[in-house]
Amino acid sequence: MNTKLISPNVVWQMAGVNRESREKQNGHSGAIIWFTGLSGSGKSTLAYAVEIELHTKGYRTFVLDGDNVRHGLCGDLGFSSSDRVENIRRIGEVAKLFMEAGIVVLTSFISPFQADRERVRQMVKKGDFVEVYCDSPIEVCERRDVKGMYKKARDGFISDFTGISSPYEKPLNPEIIIDTANQTQLTCVQTILDEIEKRNIRSSVN
Ligand code: ADX
Repeated sequence: MNTKLISPNVVWQMAGVNRESREKQNGHSGAIIWFTGLSGSGKSTLAYAVEIELHTKGYRTFVLDGDNVRHGLCGDLGFSSSDRVENIRRIGEVAKLFMEAGIVVLTSFISPFQADRERVRQMVKKGDFVEVYCDSPIEVCERRDVKGMYKKARDGFISDFTGISSPYEKPLNPEIIIDTANQTQLTCVQTILDEIEKRNIRSSVN
């Protein structure tokens, strides 16, 4: 899909309740916390663990997770490069809507291409997009092989598998790099929470 296809007969509707008023009601600002990394690098585990902590502190949150979203909104997409581009385009748009609703949205997608992540970053204002690179070498992800997919990919049963038969482009300048291969989950979660607080995505509820 391309935004150039928008009909001239479609006019933007202004809402009476805006982002600012929603954020005021929520007691904190909205944001997109964008987790990226190889399959098995710990993105979803961390996103859900961070969400629990934020929720407990009174933040309004939501996790968009690759495996889950591919059961619905992106159920028509596979793993070719063009399908991945479209996957991330849709997630970027949805994440932006959540953020405008004043929510801290945590996204967990491999999102292997730098240009796609950059496009989402450019869609929102500076500071709204916090890129979290879950940095774990493929050897570690493959050794863990939580879903058994690396073995299937090596055996030729899954094509276009990230890190094996499809590329992963490391983030050039992520806000947060988490060494998920060597650090405990507790440390990883705390590092992300500290960064979120530092960036003024503060909750005034607690
Ligand atoms: S992305 O590349 O388009 O961002 P996404 O995060 O939505 O990928 O989906 C990745 C998940 O789909 C993986 O965690 C894995 O469970 C599953 N999967 C199935 N086939 C593949 C594949 N070919 N490459 C990577 N992940 C795959």
